[in-house]
Amino acid sequence: MATEIDFKALTAHAKENGFIYQSSEIYDGLAAAYDYGPNGVLLKNNLKEYWWRSMVQLNDNIVGIDAAIFMHPKTWKASGHVDAFNDPLIDNKDSKKRFRADVLIEDYMDKIEGKINKEIAKAQKRFGDDFDEAQFRATNPNVQRYTREYDEVATRLATAMTDGDMAGLKQIIEDLGISEPDTGSKNWTDVRQFNLMFSTQLGNIAGEEGKLYLRPETAQGIFVNFTNVQKTTRQKLPFGIAQIGKAFRNEIVARQFIFRMREFEQMEMQFFVQPGSQKDWYEKWKEARLKWHLALHPQEKLRFHDHDNLAHYADAAVDIQFEFPFGFKELEGIHSRTDFDLGAHQELSGKKMQYFDPETKESYVPYVVETSIGADRLFLATLTHALREEQVPGQDDPNNTRTVLALHPAIAPVKAAIMPLKRNDDRLVGMAKEIFNDLRFRFEVQYDDTGSIGKLYRRQDAVGTPFCITVDFDSLEDGTVTVRDRDTLEQVRVKKEDLAGLIGPKVDMGNLLRSAQ
Ligand code: GAP
Repeated sequence: MATEIDFKALTAHAKENGFIYQSSEIYDGLAAAYDYGPNGVLLKNNLKEYWWRSMVQLNDNIVGIDAAIFMHPKTWKASGHVDAFNDPLIDNKDSKKRFRADVLIEDYMDKIEGKINKEIAKAQKRFGDDFDEAQFRATNPNVQRYTREYDEVATRLATAMTDGDMAGLKQIIEDLGISEPDTGSKNWTDVRQFNLMFSTQLGNIAGEEGKLYLRPETAQGIFVNFTNVQKTTRQKLPFGIAQIGKAFRNEIVARQFIFRMREFEQMEMQFFVQPGSQKDWYEKWKEARLKWHLALHPQEKLRFHDHDNLAHYADAAVDIQFEFPFGFKELEGIHSRTDFDLGAHQELSGKKMQYFDPETKESYVPYVVETSIGADRLFLATLTHALREEQVPGQDDPNNTRTVLALHPAIAPVKAAIMPLKRNDDRLVGMAKEIFNDLRFRFEVQYDDTGSIGKLYRRQDAVGTPFCITVDFDSLEDGTVTVRDRDTLEQVRVKKEDLAGLIGPKVDMGNLLRSAQ
């Protein structure tokens, strides 16, 4: 039986196996900044390719761009980020630590949810197969009390956030008796707004005039290019523009490894539609995006969560949440952004951001449905789900275990590792290198002769390599090699000329893309 590995072990595994390192570690690291190592960059590139191809390659009406990170500062005035891209900040006067007031309240709500889940788990154990969860939730007094409390807090939080009511947030923290998680102190400052944008300065202009922002979302690079792209591609509505790129946010509390960083990567698609059709497109994109996730991750790890309080640009918004080791949290956002962004850019720039509809012979500002996913969060979700400790397949002894990264072959960093049975035999090494030098033209492969075969297999399991190819003494006689399957550990003997034909289709991204359709 396989068990998921806990969060601490996962971060250690990510470092030890060249997936993720703390940024500037030799200087004790920089909080909330991480570097992707040799296996990490391959996995991340594969995840980005899976997104890009499913958006741009497989949709006739979606095209891609790559906009600059720096944008004219008026962009952020028009988009509302200068005035409204804030988080509620609260300091603890004793510990001098900073927190997000809404996150402190959400953590309190998570604890209530934990109590509900505990009651349910207890009852499930007691009643076994006869257990009816819906009925239990509706009738058990403890669960009902916790649910009422949860709903009350959720409503108060949503109201305070929507109204920008900082005093209201402080009141909730006081009423619930929320204390500083590490010290237990309740000595809080007032709550105040904190703008999340990083700013920097242009070299040749002094003062406010030369102030630039690092983009907090990639979306605005798409909006300001709407008319350029529409004219040069002659796309008709509805059509979309996709982009992958870095975004920066001065997060107050950046934690949980790569879940919340100050520098991260987004994969965003803005879909421009006729005003009035946005609700339909919102539903279609919700369904399409969930399917895309389901090709990688099981249903029970994913859920929709409607936003309780909407961002300044949205008339509807939902998160696709993933069950991370610290609970269900946002992985992707789908937002109906109305004509807010294009309308605001049109007004501030004085340039038309309209579409001439050849059917109705009218010009109008399109509405937008956005899908936005963090590449780093997708990476974390993928590691969380794939990393397991399991009994070695085919072995009776339950104590005989291995650590395996059960990645979909199409996204695995390395598709096959080629190894000679003995590293000091020139003939075995020569043949293994010959196979490696042929296969490397087709997909990502690795040559390894730095340990015993058993050790090399374990090393490849830990980084998710779906196939190991071993060259042994029989190979020298008959030109066949052993191919070991990571998941079943089954071994087959194949001619070296047939390797590409056997492995190629199994690691092809096309399989994954087809299953997401
Ligand atoms: N353009 C809309 C937008 O930026 P968002 O919900 O703020 O919406 C979209 O962000 C996605 O970007 C999130 O679902 C998450 O995956 C990712 N993301 C946001 N902030 C992040 C952070 N600090 N670190 C890592 N990923 C982040």
